[in-house]
Amino acid sequence: MLPSVPPTASRTVLLTGAAGRVAGQLLPGLQDYDLRLLDRSVPSAPPGAEVVEGELTDRDLLARAVTGVDTVVHLAGDPRPDATWDDLRGPNVDGFAALLGAAREHGVRRVVYASSVHAMGRYEALGRVPIDPAWAPAPCCPYGATKAFDEAVAGVFSHRWGLSTIGLRLGATVPEPAQRSQLRGWLGPADLRQLVVRAVETTTPAGVYPGVSGAPGSHWDLTSAASDLDYHPRLDSGRYAETVEDDGTDVTTCPHP
Ligand SMILES: NC(=O)c1ccc[n+]([C@@H]2O[C@H](COP(=O)([O-])OP(=O)(O)OC[C@H]3O[C@@H](n4cnc5c(N)ncnc54)[C@H](O)[C@@H]3O)[C@@H](O)[C@H]2O)c1
Repeated sequence: MLPSVPPTASRTVLLTGAAGRVAGQLLPGLQDYDLRLLDRSVPSAPPGAEVVEGELTDRDLLARAVTGVDTVVHLAGDPRPDATWDDLRGPNVDGFAALLGAAREHGVRRVVYASSVHAMGRYEALGRVPIDPAWAPAPCCPYGATKAFDEAVAGVFSHRWGLSTIGLRLGATVPEPAQRSQLRGWLGPADLRQLVVRAVETTTPAGVYPGVSGAPGSHWDLTSAASDLDYHPRLDSGRYAETVEDDGTDVTTCPHP
């Protein structure tokens, strides 16, 4: 068991994938931090935020990006469940390992990173719900497998080198669920902000947690997210049950294993 992790004096957060869709929903919740934003290109940034543009696999760029940072919130990656291994390997595997290496080398306290419900998607497809985050990863697709790898390699950095790592298995991270398949694994914007800030602030040293809002008949067990991170979703997808399109499934992840 790693020792608990107290907050440091630095309030600098590096947000990777800062130009992406999840970052757009998250950024209004990070106004209390000194922000540094990393992406291939960052067309707009909040006032006062520093910007670092380039590739995650560029080690010089990473060294610059993490210097003086307390916590990295890592969202950069390929988010497509139907992407090929060739597309996924650079951003989701090599890029994340390089980021962890740079974080360790430059004294970053914590890396909070976006995993995905797809890392556990086979359980959902097979009807083994609610899914306990302590079960072994069971990805439903190559994308989910890269996220399971990320969880494994983050665990190595925590276990071997004491880097605090908190993985968040984000569900469908959209302002409102649009299809029935998103109802049981939706993560709404206010809950996304709460979850990430709690993950930045917690004294829990390491772990992997589901990132979903409340839902009637939720497929995701949030008990450890509540006890370790103090995450308590305020949103509930039930209010959209009558208005979403019926796409014929209740499964958030790839419905066919
Ligand atoms: N959107 C969702 O519903 C969802 C659900 C679960 C998990 N996630 C995860 O959350 C993260 C963000 O997802 P998103 O939907 O915002 O994706 P997105 O594609 O909208 O944004 C990702 C950003 O990362 C950047 N990026 C990708 N590879 C990079 C690299 N090698 N170097 C520098 N920048 C790079 C892209 O330019 C892009 O701006 C991803 O890791 C994704 O797997 C998303």
